[in-house]
Amino acid sequence: MSRALLDWYDRHARDLPWRVGPAARAAGVQPDPYAVWLSEVMLQQTTVAAVRDYFYRFTARWPDVEALAAAEDAAVMGEWAGLGYYARARNLLKCARAVARDHGGRFPDSRDGLLALPGIGPYTAAAIAAIAFDRAETVVDGNVERVMARLFAVQTPLPTAKPELTALAARLTPMLRPGDHAQAVMDLGATICTPKRPACGICPLRTPCAARAQGIAADLPRKLAKAPKPTRLGIAYIGRRSDGAWLLERRPESGLLGGMLGWPGTDWAETEPVCAPPADAEWRDPGAEVRHTFTHFHLRLALRVAELPADCTPRCGMFVAHRDFRPSDLPTVMRKAFDLARASVGCD
Ligand code: ADE
Repeated sequence: MSRALLDWYDRHARDLPWRVGPAARAAGVQPDPYAVWLSEVMLQQTTVAAVRDYFYRFTARWPDVEALAAAEDAAVMGEWAGLGYYARARNLLKCARAVARDHGGRFPDSRDGLLALPGIGPYTAAAIAAIAFDRAETVVDGNVERVMARLFAVQTPLPTAKPELTALAARLTPMLRPGDHAQAVMDLGATICTPKRPACGICPLRTPCAARAQGIAADLPRKLAKAPKPTRLGIAYIGRRSDGAWLLERRPESGLLGGMLGWPGTDWAETEPVCAPPADAEWRDPGAEVRHTFTHFHLRLALRVAELPADCTPRCGMFVAHRDFRPSDLPTVMRKAFDLARASVGCD
């Protein structure tokens, strides 16, 4: 099966910016561990389509791990804005600094060495060890779970089935070209063995696939019903001083959107929000609210906007001069709030 998969990968591997192309691969060129690490962290819970441009921007600005280690926290959080799961960006920096400081700028080349780094868990350690160093490690993400569930017609629902699917993936991992094998399974899951309407007719594993033989490929993997997401409510205050500066705050390191820039506001809870505005002013309701969905809840964020006087002393947050303010530094929910509110504070 692994032979069939590698033959398919040699012809159909996706052309991704962190990969070595087929000709270079054939000539024995190894991928850059920095590029592999960065892409694997970005790809967690995020699609290739969303990651591509972020990867280009990061590597253009910080071409190696030492450059990234020397970056300012705010610059990295700003470049990460919009990609979500911001703990990844905080851990990315911690990891880059540990590699630069403790390992002379070179990533460890084993799963265990990689696991010892901050922010590198079992998935990322296995992925880097396999892809960058061709170690025979098993890499299991959602795509791989789906491919295994179908190939072996596993009826156990997710997440219960995870250990079983991991064991099956491990059995399939070859000693020869384990890195390409790992990427081949993931590419197969992303392009052929897709969640809906899998293209079984052109799949390199169509002959051994048990789910295809039983006509149930599209029904697998089975999944336990998820708890419905609650809706939380909040208010964000978008204040602009008469000189054009914006009242923003850096969110605490821990917690949702930790370390990111945002508008001051209430906590987000299932009850009506209460909190004093961040500065005394005539706060207006612009008549629109932001809707945004996080992993565990939906958010309805009401907005208040105000022009603030030149001598304003806010209770929290800090003023950011208009020329220093890049809306692209904001996480998506805060960016949506800005886009809705900007016209009502005279910023078009
Ligand atoms: N998803 C996460 N990492 C990947 C990789 N290296 N190749 C293909 N898909 C992936």
